[in-house]
Amino acid sequence: MPSFLFTAPLPGPAEDMLRQAGDVEIGNGFTAEDLKEAAHSGRYDVLITQLSDKVTADVLNGSKLKGVANFGVGFNNIDVEAATANGIFVGNTPDVLSDASANIAMLLLLAAARRAHEGEELVRSGQFKGLTPELLLGADITGTRLGIAGLGRIGKAMARRALGFGLEVVFVQRPPRDRPVNDDELGDLAGRIKQVSWDELLETSDHISLHVPLTPDTTHLIGAEELGRMKSTAVLVNTARGPVIDEAALVTALREGTIAAAGLDVYENEPALAPGLADLPNTFLLPHIGSAEFGTRARMGEMCAENAIAMAKGEVPPYPVNPEAAR
Ligand code: GLV
Ligand code: GLV
Repeated sequence: MPSFLFTAPLPGPAEDMLRQAGDVEIGNGFTAEDLKEAAHSGRYDVLITQLSDKVTADVLNGSKLKGVANFGVGFNNIDVEAATANGIFVGNTPDVLSDASANIAMLLLLAAARRAHEGEELVRSGQFKGLTPELLLGADITGTRLGIAGLGRIGKAMARRALGFGLEVVFVQRPPRDRPVNDDELGDLAGRIKQVSWDELLETSDHISLHVPLTPDTTHLIGAEELGRMKSTAVLVNTARGPVIDEAALVTALREGTIAAAGLDVYENEPALAPGLADLPNTFLLPHIGSAEFGTRARMGEMCAENAIAMAKGEVPPYPVNPEAAR
C-alpha cells in the first residue's frame, strides 16, 4: 500500500482520494527537521507539501521518497535539482488557479488605486460624514496603461481583466530579459496587448502588475532603482512572490511618494512584513490568498492527489515539474 503524508490538511477531495489509494497521515505545521525525518523515515512514498515547507536538498538527499506533490503552482520552496538527482518527482498545480490569482491581482490594483483601505477605515470608524467632492480621490484606471511583468498564464488572465476595464496593456514576457512572443502564443490576446522593453514598461506604465516566477534573476526585480523609474502616480501590484520586490525599498518609495501605492498579496519574508509597511495608508495588503477560491482550492487539492497517486506508482505525474526525474 502506498503511503502519503500531508504536511497540512487540504480543502476538497484530496484526502478522500488518497485514502482510497493508500495510507494517509495528516500533519499540521512541519519544521525543516520534521520534514527531513519524515522524508528519511521510509514511512511515506509521497509528501504533499505547501509553500511554507522548505523541501531542501537536506530533506531530499538519501530519502526514501518517490515524490513531492506541492499544493500551488509555484515551487520555489523545493530544491527541484536535488529532487531530480534523487529520482524524486515534483508535481505542482498549474492553470486552475490562473483566474483566481488574476482576480486578486485586479482587486489589488483597484483597491490600492481607489484607496479602498482608507475608505473602509473611514466608514468603520464612524468618520464618514457623507459624500464630498474631494473625499479620497484615487488614481485613474480606465484609459491608463498597465504594464504586465511576466506574461505566463496568470499574466495573460490579468491582461484580459485589464482590457475589460478599459486599460491599455503592455507586457514583458519574462523580465528582466525578454524574448519575442508571437501571435500564436498570444492567442486571444494577439493584437490587443503590446510587447515592450523592460525599460519602456517601467517608465511608461501607469500601473504595474508582477506575474513572474521567483528565480535568481527575478529576485529583487523591483528595487530602489526600478521604483525610481516608475511614474510617481503608479500603483504596483504583486501577487507573484514577495522577494520579487525589495520590500524595504518599496516602503521607502511609498513613504516618499516615489510611487503612489502598492497592492500586495505576497511578502519578501512571509509572513513577516518589512518594518513600516503595515503603517502606510497607501498600501492594500492581503495574506497570500491569490488562489483562495473554493472551487480553485478544491481542484488544486485534486491535482495534488492525482500527482501523488502517479508518483507513488513510480509514474511521471500528470502535472510534472521534473519529468526528467524518471529513472
Ligand atoms: C501560490 O502562491 C501558488 O504558487 O500556487
Ligand atoms: C503560472 O501559472 C503562470 O504561468 O503564470
